[in-house]
Amino acid sequence: MNEQCAVRGVSDTARWVAYFRALETQRPDGLFRDPYAERLAGAHGFQIANTLVDGAKHEWAWVARTYLFDQFISRAISAGADLVLNLAAGLDARPYRMDLPSTLRWVEVDFPEIISYKQQVLVNERPRCQLERVALDLSDITERRELFSRLGAESTKAVVASEGLLIYFTSEEVAGLAKDLAAEARFANWIIDLASPGQLRLMQRTTGRQLSEAGAEFKFGPKEGAGFFCPYGWDPVDVQGLLKTAAQFKRAPAELLSLLPEPKGNPGNYPWTGVCLLKKR
Ligand SMILES: C[S@@+](CC[C@H](N)C(=O)[O-])C[C@H]1O[C@@H](n2cnc3c(N)ncnc32)[C@H](O)[C@@H]1O
Repeated sequence: MNEQCAVRGVSDTARWVAYFRALETQRPDGLFRDPYAERLAGAHGFQIANTLVDGAKHEWAWVARTYLFDQFISRAISAGADLVLNLAAGLDARPYRMDLPSTLRWVEVDFPEIISYKQQVLVNERPRCQLERVALDLSDITERRELFSRLGAESTKAVVASEGLLIYFTSEEVAGLAKDLAAEARFANWIIDLASPGQLRLMQRTTGRQLSEAGAEFKFGPKEGAGFFCPYGWDPVDVQGLLKTAAQFKRAPAELLSLLPEPKGNPGNYPWTGVCLLKKR
């Protein structure tokens, strides 16, 4: 761990995201409420946000990302998904805070350390649906395939979400994961967040340096944009930029509004991040 940075590894980035959800929850005009986020972030989450370079900045982007995942997940459930598979769930509390059918199954996957920490913090809380947590390294191909195949057999229509995960994977690792998810006939949709190559470089030069030293390097920002996933069986059907979304709610910083409207199609070097709904072909 480097001296200035409170991040000890990639799982600590979950505490960092929870910090922004805690802040949003304090706003009377918040785009969502997560009453668990402050507890889950803990003092460590606040320390991370305040010691990382730019760690407490760009709150609008974190909030827009959470908002868009909420929207896409709700839509998938309304369209008949009976299982939500949240890969790298971190300290996300959606099974407790969203309005969900009590029969819905929700499976959270993350490293053992963050799973057991979350379990302890939320021990007295009741999820609104059928929640299962799986401690797993998603880079373990054999284990993840076993999990996907079990869940595929146990659901009729599943939506996969991976919020804040793919950026820590190489293109080859993302492609491998995309293929393994596509292999499951019942996995109908996948919700991801994505950075353009231009945005990735910006992030690597700022916060990314410290994160890299802590073993949480930013790696993935494909030049093909959401089209990256097509060869692996996933077609982008809805792509929403974070800045555009924040602007809709008057939450975008004035100095960035000149970046709108977003370029049509692949954003390439343009600094762009967004959330994409992928559909299995
Ligand atoms: C930025 S956090 C996002 C957490 C959560 N999705 C959210 O948005 O609040 C990244 C998460 O990815 C998890 N992660 C990274 N690599 C992983 C891997 N190989 N296997 C399982 N989880 C992983 C980390 O432990 C961490 O919880």
